[in-house]
Amino acid sequence: MTNGRTIDIAPSILSADFSCLSEEIEAVKRGGATILHVDVMDGHFVPNLTVGLPVVKSIARTAELPIDAHLMISEPGRYAQQFVEAGATMVSVHVEADAHLHRTLASIKGAGAAAGIVLNPATPIESLGEALPFADYVLVMSVNPGFGGQKFIETSVDKVRRLRRMIDERHLETRIEIDGGIDLKNIASVVAAGAEIIVAGSAIFGAADPETAVRRLREATVQWV
Ligand code: DX5
Ligand code: ZN
Repeated sequence: MTNGRTIDIAPSILSADFSCLSEEIEAVKRGGATILHVDVMDGHFVPNLTVGLPVVKSIARTAELPIDAHLMISEPGRYAQQFVEAGATMVSVHVEADAHLHRTLASIKGAGAAAGIVLNPATPIESLGEALPFADYVLVMSVNPGFGGQKFIETSVDKVRRLRRMIDERHLETRIEIDGGIDLKNIASVVAAGAEIIVAGSAIFGAADPETAVRRLREATVQWV
């Protein structure tokens, strides 16, 4: 018997070695990664700077995996559509960063990608409010955004559980993604709570063998699929 759920393992390339990014991507693909998570930071919404449109464009040309662009930038509506045009198939924006969330989600979907809303650890699920039906997925941050390798915030498990209930009660198809501090010890609990897209950075690229690390994470979720 299966539960009929699809679990995606989405390595965050933030923790990868950028000098050999294509080899890192090939390794996680062999391990069973189904999505590539790309963290875009502007040094304003979060206290760090990372990569942007040109990097998404080159990965999209070669990676042969769907690209999930997590925009940790102020006024994401100004750039969201350009990330779709660069090749992202999923684009998420923070509810805390966008005064025009509905318009941004519509522009992502209009450009042909799945649209996600991201919640910081201190942001309640109630803030999704009227926007929830317009999102294809909600990304629950289980660390404060800005850096890889931080400690998982344990209360995120209950947050995912309550969000799952809210989505089910509203008869929506919204998927739940989780990002931050995910490793072999906590992946089963977040999947049991209702998360389906699992981002992991340091647990994969910080491991001696990223391919095996992805495989082990996936194996830890098998009873839920
Ligand atoms: C944090 C980023 C994450 C990060 C995850 O701001 O959104 O995607 O790369 O890295 P780990 O899994 O190491 O917490
Ligand atoms: Zn992320």
